[in-house]
Amino acid sequence: MKGLGLVAVLALAVACGGGETPATGDGAATTPATPEAAATAPAGADLVTADDIKFAEQVDQGKAAKGKELYEVKCQACHSTGTNRVVGPGWGGILEQRKPEWIMNMILHTDAMLETDPEAQAMLEECLVRMPNQNLTHDEALDVLEFMRTLTPAK
Ligand code: HEC
Repeated sequence: MKGLGLVAVLALAVACGGGETPATGDGAATTPATPEAAATAPAGADLVTADDIKFAEQVDQGKAAKGKELYEVKCQACHSTGTNRVVGPGWGGILEQRKPEWIMNMILHTDAMLETDPEAQAMLEECLVRMPNQNLTHDEALDVLEFMRTLTPAK
């Protein structure tokens, strides 16, 4: 019995891990820029675009440390820093798979993304848990994004 349960859990973990999905090209991970997406987003929730994010060449360690603290308080229950799934996918190497603005929108406009973005919806189908919006500010989300940069080895 115990063995069977473990197998089931492992199968789920693999399905939701995202690790085996090939890094998507330019087209797949774009933010929903359709009028429908804008219409379903909560009032004032303008989706983040690539222009809103400027990475310095080096990781900003101060921001990354703040992001790590936020992660430990608000995200760690569901996300690992490796590639294994907890409730949601692990964040190891996430910036190799997702565009920064897509990640920002997933953090700040979680519901709009789960309602309109095909990639987010595919994850929801696999994870079977709807990520709750964690009510981060734009700056806090940028700190978490900076922390994510430390989880993706520089090439
Ligand atoms: C209650 C569990 C839970 C918490 C807490 C949570 N998430 Fe999530 N997250 C999920 C799930 C589940 C998904 C997959 C999409 C879905 O099913 O809604 C996800 C997906 C994501 C993704 C996309 C991952 C990928 O591989 O593309 C990002 C980015 C993300 N979450 C960021 C955060 C941040 C930042 C926090 C903390 C501020 C956080 N999450 C807190 C459950 C959670």
